Amino acid sequence: MASTMNSKQTELNGELQSCPCKKYKMGNNKVTVVLGAQWGDEGKGKLVDLLAQDSDIVCRCQGGNNAGHTVVVDGKEFDFHLLPSGIINSKCTSVIGNGVVIHLPGLFEELKKNEDKGMKDWQNRLIISDRAHLVLDIHQQVDGLQEAEKGKNSLGTTKKGIGPTYSSKASRNGIRIGDLLGDFQLFEEKFRTLAESYKRMFPSLVVDVESELTRYKKYGQQIRPLVRDTVSYLYKEIENGKRVLVEGANAAMLDIDFGTYPYVTSSNCSIGGVCTGLGLPPSVIGDVLGVVKAYTTRVGDGPFPTELKDDTGRLLQERGHEVGVTTKRVRRCGWLDLVVVRYTAMVNGYSHLCLTKLDILDTLKEIKIGIAYKLHGKRIDYFPSSMKELSEVEVEYVSMPGWRSSAAAARSMDQLPEAARHYIKTIEDFLYIPIKYIGVGPGRECIIFAD
Ligand code: GDP
Ligand code: IMO
Ligand code: MG
Repeated sequence: MASTMNSKQTELNGELQSCPCKKYKMGNNKVTVVLGAQWGDEGKGKLVDLLAQDSDIVCRCQGGNNAGHTVVVDGKEFDFHLLPSGIINSKCTSVIGNGVVIHLPGLFEELKKNEDKGMKDWQNRLIISDRAHLVLDIHQQVDGLQEAEKGKNSLGTTKKGIGPTYSSKASRNGIRIGDLLGDFQLFEEKFRTLAESYKRMFPSLVVDVESELTRYKKYGQQIRPLVRDTVSYLYKEIENGKRVLVEGANAAMLDIDFGTYPYVTSSNCSIGGVCTGLGLPPSVIGDVLGVVKAYTTRVGDGPFPTELKDDTGRLLQERGHEVGVTTKRVRRCGWLDLVVVRYTAMVNGYSHLCLTKLDILDTLKEIKIGIAYKLHGKRIDYFPSSMKELSEVEVEYVSMPGWRSSAAAARSMDQLPEAARHYIKTIEDFLYIPIKYIGVGPGRECIIFAD
C-alpha cells in the first residue's frame, strides 16, 4: 500500500513540476482595491487616478458603462465608463476583467473621446478578458422595456443594459467577447437565439439581426488584438512583482447581494466581485480602500434614510454639482450615514478610507452625521434587508458646528479648519478605520494625505 502511494506521489510531483501554479507564486505581492462605500459616485475615479501613478496595472472587475468615473487633471476633465480610470497614466496597463459587461459600441466611443482629449498609446496598454460578457443593444432596449413595465415600481436603472446582460449570463445564454473571435457562425447562432427569445418576451423589441451581425463581425476584428486570458496574465504579472490596482465600480449599497435590493445593480460591487471578476484569490488582496463621500448621494430609486429634501439637500446638490456622469440625472443628497458605511465596512473590510468632497460642506452652519437607526422606537443593530423596514427607520444623528471657511485650499491636516478636523475624527472614532486621504476639490492635486 505504502509503495503504491509513494509511486503515485512521485507521479504527482512530476506533474506539479510543469504546473504553472508551482512555477509562479504570487508570493507577498498584494493587490490594492478601491471600492465605493455608499451608493456610488463617491469619487473612486479620482482616487484611482492618484494611486495609478504608483501602479503598473489598473483593472475593472465588474459592472459596465453604468459607471461614470471622473478624473480632473490640470483642469481637464475625463470621464470613464468602461475603461479603468488609470488609463490616462501612460505607464499603466489597463485590464477589463471577466466580471465586466462590455457594450462594444460604447467602449469604442469612449476610446475615441479620450483619444481626442489626449489619451495616448492605449492600443498597447488595454487588455480585455475573453470571458467578459457582451452588452448588446437589445439588452439595452430590454432594460428600458423592463423599466417601463415596472411603471411606478421602476428601479431607475441607467438603461445601459446591465441587468439584462447579467441575466443572460446567469441563465447561460449570454455571449462573451471570446465568442466574437472564434467561428463566427457560432456567434451568429447565439445571437439569433437570444434575439428570438427576447422577441418572444417583448414583441415591441426592434432588432435588425442581419445588420447587427455585420456590425459585430467588424467589432470582432477591431477587438481581437486586445483580447486575452486575463487570469493567467494577472497571475504572472503579480508573480513578477507588478503593482496591481483594482477599481471597483458602482458601490456596496448597490451590490446585488448586500445592497438595497431590488434597488441595486446586477453585479457584486463589493470585495467578492474583485475575486470573481478577475480570477484573483482572496489571499492576494492587500489594502482595501473604501471611498466615502463626506455626505451621501444616490441616483435612481430606493430608500435613503438620511435624504434631505430641503434647502440643505439642494445646497449639497448644487455645491457638489451632484449630477450623474452617465445619465445626467440629478443625484439625491443627504447627510453622511455612518450606519451605511459601517455596514459596508463589515462586508468589504476596509483597511483605510478616502473621505471625499469635504469642501462641499464648507458653507454649512451645522453638520449632522447619521449614527444609528431606530425601528418602531427601538435601536436596531443590523442593516435592514427589507426595503419596507429601511424606509421606516428613524435616523439618530450627532450634530456639530460647521467650519464656515474654506477647506478647499488645504493641502495638509493642519491647514484644515479645526471643525473640519473634528468632523474627520468623529468619523474615524465611530468606524475604527483610519482615513488616509481627504478630498477637498475635484482636481488631482486637491487631496490631503492624512498623518
Ligand atoms: P465615482 O463614480 O465614484 O468615480 O465618482 P463620480 O466621478 O461619479 O462623482 C464624483 C464627482 O465629484 C466628480 O465630479 C469628481 O470630479 C468630484 N470630486 C471627487 N472628489 C472630490 C472632492 O474631494 N471635492 C470636490 N469638490 N469634488 C470632488
Ligand atoms: P459609479 O461607478 C451611482 C444605480 C442606478 C440605479 C441602479 C441600477 O459611477 O459609482 P443599473 O443601470 O446598474 O441596472 O442601475 O444602480 N447605479 C449607480 N449609481 N453610481 C454608479 O456607478 C451607479 N451604477 C449604477 O442609478 O439606481
Ligand atoms: Mg460615478
